[in-house]
Amino acid sequence: MTRARIIGVGAYAPKRILTNEELERMVETSDEWIVQRTGIRERRIADESEATSDLALKAAQQALERAGVEPGEIDLIVVGTTTGDMAFPTTANIVQHQLGCRNAGSMDLYAACSGSIYSLSVGSQYIESGKYRTVLCIGAECLSRIVDYTDRGTCILLADAAGAAVLRASDGEAGILDTDLYSDGRYGELLIQPAGGSRYPATHETVDKRMHFCRMKGNEVFKVAVRMFGDCAERILSRNGITADDLALFIPHQANLRIIEAAVKRLKVSMDRVIVNVDRYGNTGAASVYVALEEALALGRIKPGDLVLMAAFGGGFTWGAALLRW
Ligand code: UT7
Repeated sequence: MTRARIIGVGAYAPKRILTNEELERMVETSDEWIVQRTGIRERRIADESEATSDLALKAAQQALERAGVEPGEIDLIVVGTTTGDMAFPTTANIVQHQLGCRNAGSMDLYAACSGSIYSLSVGSQYIESGKYRTVLCIGAECLSRIVDYTDRGTCILLADAAGAAVLRASDGEAGILDTDLYSDGRYGELLIQPAGGSRYPATHETVDKRMHFCRMKGNEVFKVAVRMFGDCAERILSRNGITADDLALFIPHQANLRIIEAAVKRLKVSMDRVIVNVDRYGNTGAASVYVALEEALALGRIKPGDLVLMAAFGGGFTWGAALLRW
């Protein structure tokens, strides 16, 4: 059976660091509260000259270089993002041009923070079906651009980064073994950026009402997220006859340390087999799982043959999991 194997991973986070101490001066919050409730100590914020495609491009260039793949070999680019450069052209299209992928189709995929798993799943399907040989999957966000820096419930969490993975068709045992995608629109209102689309196009009124910023009922998102995270992780493991003990590494979406700990407790995985970098990057949406994967590889925490579980959830709601043999 043809599988999609990840043959190169890259990541990029902007240089500018926004600390909890700086946020203390912007909204009524404290370093202690943020660390206790989220585990976040600092996050990266793009500078004014950077947009999502710039971050995506840097992550993609690193992934291609590490994979030893030329831009012309890419058949398809899938970018998971909720903060694309503009309504259109798509961010994937911009990256396609900047990279010089002259033989590639390109698409953006909107699944909020699950954009990592969704992009990986879509990319791998094209390879498994035999349609394409090499797919570039990217998760990239400039969430700071939709954050209301007077809203302490969101500004402490959301941040900017990009990650990328080059998938290549392979006949061996290694590769993406399975992916699962879920969604439930009943929860849409809990995490939403209301304006900027066809429902509420930009007007003075939408700007005055701050409708272009992300709004979140954090506590309600938290409760549903913990349940969904655990459900999808358990389901993909059991369907593949794998127990949590078999896993070398669990790479969860980095939304909040408490959500990660709750999922880990339910899965019965020890924390030393979980990648956590939310303390340094905050919640980078569709980028987070890719960025964490890149870090895991750089730290030598994944070896050939290892079983790796990834899971994410996000606005919509959307959620999903991916199971890989490295
Ligand atoms: O990728 C998916 C995206 N979203 C998420 O993953 C978010 C999931 N949710 C969360 O991470 C958490 O719900 C938050 C970190 C957003 C909030 O933590 P919480 O423990 O759920 O707090 P809460 O919303 O229940 O609020 C408790 C209190 C409230 O005050 P009162 O009403 O009890 O007086 C809030 O107003 O904490 C207050 N609060 C804050 N205090 C200091 C909310 N944000 C802050 C803040 N600093 N930044």
